[in-house]
Amino acid sequence: ETDKSPSAGVKSETAQRVKIGIYFATWWALNVVFNIYNKKVLNVYPFPWLTSTLSLACGSLMMLVSWAVRIAEPPKIDLEFWKALFPVRFPSLFFFFVWLVAVAHTIGHVAATVSMSKVAVSFTHIIKSGEPAFSVLVSRFLLGDTFPPAVYLSLLPIIGGCALAALTELNFNMTGFMGAMISNLAFVFRNIFSKKGMKGKSVSGMNYYACLCMLSLVILTPFAIAVEGPHMWAAGWKEAVSLIGSQFIWWVAAQSIFYHLYNQVSYMSLDEISPLTFSVGNTMKRISVIVSSIIIFHTPVQPINALGAAIAILGTFLYSQAKA
Ligand code: 3PG
Repeated sequence: ETDKSPSAGVKSETAQRVKIGIYFATWWALNVVFNIYNKKVLNVYPFPWLTSTLSLACGSLMMLVSWAVRIAEPPKIDLEFWKALFPVRFPSLFFFFVWLVAVAHTIGHVAATVSMSKVAVSFTHIIKSGEPAFSVLVSRFLLGDTFPPAVYLSLLPIIGGCALAALTELNFNMTGFMGAMISNLAFVFRNIFSKKGMKGKSVSGMNYYACLCMLSLVILTPFAIAVEGPHMWAAGWKEAVSLIGSQFIWWVAAQSIFYHLYNQVSYMSLDEISPLTFSVGNTMKRISVIVSSIIIFHTPVQPINALGAAIAILGTFLYSQAKA
């Protein structure tokens, strides 16, 4: 028999908040570690297409092993499962949309990694804090949603802050900037369609992400081979090992493992919260990444540059308030 008293309700609400709090803290911590190792690897081994592929391969392997040894319950691959991955009800377009989410994830992932191979981690994440602006523009112009004026106004500090940070960035690089912008756009599509797909509920956040990861791996591998290829990878690997020593492989392993873990926890959170709360959590995550990467990599920052980042992040909070 369940306890339906008001105090039981308060208790379960508190328990839920604690659970989300733990998810968020874990997500941010895992993401900081991923970003540090990812940049350490890219600094000596500038092959973002390969490192992005390895992250997905590692995640896929971790999930296959978890399912095999039953650390995680494997998804029931039936019609319901595919329905949950697919947000729109046109059976003939079923698989097309599953792949669309995976394509968006792949593009967003590789674009962010290419960006980080060209510019400071902090710069990529400052530009990525502009994601809510992309979310509003996509929802407005492609999905036809409308928002109160306060939401549109909150985009001004987000866009203005990102622009100020970009214009005053000491090591500005166009590929780095565009990579972060493309990643923003791709992840907006990924998040909108993922959340719609997860409403089906027959698949957990963890397994949803696992399937996404495997599909992305299939999509990305041929492109990674075409853009970079085994010859470049092998030559670069030798150089990186001669420079860093055998611990280089551990850096690659760490970036791949932590990439999967942080994404898995973020999808476990997305399962429990709205896309809005998710994007606020994601922006707060960026603050910890920006600050820790500036400290660890001794990234030079000018006050005006930091001001741009602060305005953009403040804009995101105003956005969340206006949207709530
Ligand atoms: C990636 O490689 O996918 C990006 O670093 C992740 O970006 P995110 O911080 O938006 O998850």
